[in-house]
Amino acid sequence: MEAVYEWPEPVVRVQTLAGAATIPDRYVKPLSERPKLAAVPVGSTARASNNIPVIDFASLASGRETAAVAAACGEWGFFQLVNHGIETAEEVRQAWREFFALPMEEKQRYANSPATFEGYGSRLGVVKGAVLDWGDYFFLHLLPPSPPTKWPSSPSQLRTGNRGKTEEYCAAVAKVVEAVKRAISAALGVEEGYMAAAFGQAAAAMRVNYYPKCPQPELTLGLSPHSDPGGLTFLLPDEHVKGLQVRHAGEWVTVDPVPGGLIVNIGDQIQLLSNGTFKSVEHRVTANAAADRISVAYFHNPQDDLLISPASEIVKRSGPAVYKPIMYREYKKHMRMLGLGGKSHVDSLRTT
Ligand code: OGA
Ligand code: NI
Repeated sequence: MEAVYEWPEPVVRVQTLAGAATIPDRYVKPLSERPKLAAVPVGSTARASNNIPVIDFASLASGRETAAVAAACGEWGFFQLVNHGIETAEEVRQAWREFFALPMEEKQRYANSPATFEGYGSRLGVVKGAVLDWGDYFFLHLLPPSPPTKWPSSPSQLRTGNRGKTEEYCAAVAKVVEAVKRAISAALGVEEGYMAAAFGQAAAAMRVNYYPKCPQPELTLGLSPHSDPGGLTFLLPDEHVKGLQVRHAGEWVTVDPVPGGLIVNIGDQIQLLSNGTFKSVEHRVTANAAADRISVAYFHNPQDDLLISPASEIVKRSGPAVYKPIMYREYKKHMRMLGLGGKSHVDSLRTT
């Protein structure tokens, strides 16, 4: 797959379409992919009965949640982390809300291209004529960082210089990530530092998702079904508006965020490394007629040029290796070129 440097069609910002009475055909999903939207009022505080597991960070970090982590990663591929001690989350969400509220011409200064995806974007993949998702985003590398010119210079909270709120937040998330990697190694029954060693000099990136109001949410999706290509994702969800759905036992389960929690999910690289013991589970985002929605995803990824392959201890125990080794640098091209594709990217590495 060769890199592509231009979008195949003129880019339309979804935000500019939010006020219309109907959505353009480009966003209308085939019937089988449309969501069944439950009539839940915005801001409803009723707790869902079927929800992803909740894990306390302090207990996890002290090694007391091995069984809960194994169950969450094996059965759901997702859990919510509470009591993580990260205090800047609210400010970060607010700063990015302000970014998406800026005049369009200001945001356009950061328009991205498929060369690196860094900046203000509205699609993934470069397939001409693809059905698009109802969302805009801002993508940045954190480790190693995108050049300062890629960062928005307004609103002022996002300025890089003296560690803007985003960098402070991401540094705090990075610490939590290391503890979660140890817990995942323990839950896989491998040595505590296994994941850290397998991932090498870890990389990180951030994607702020902005889902504008949608006049016909029943026809489209904010984000199509996909699993995250990297290692681990830490998602700061919108504090008011639900929308993330996780595929579980064949059903789409709407995540009910715990106030102050972070939603953690397993990416494809851990599915590969664990030989399928832990799953990078498909998820998607529904659109909403009543309210816009923002989320901040922090992606923890392996070093670009290290081969990720099923752990030999796991293969010895439950063999044979079901995935071919691949470097993350190669793997991430699947999504960048072909767009979100359910589990098709990880399935393309199957040995059987
Ligand atoms: C993602 C993602 C979910 C959301 O950015 O990969 O799945 O709720 N986001 O925005
Ligand atoms: Ni995702």
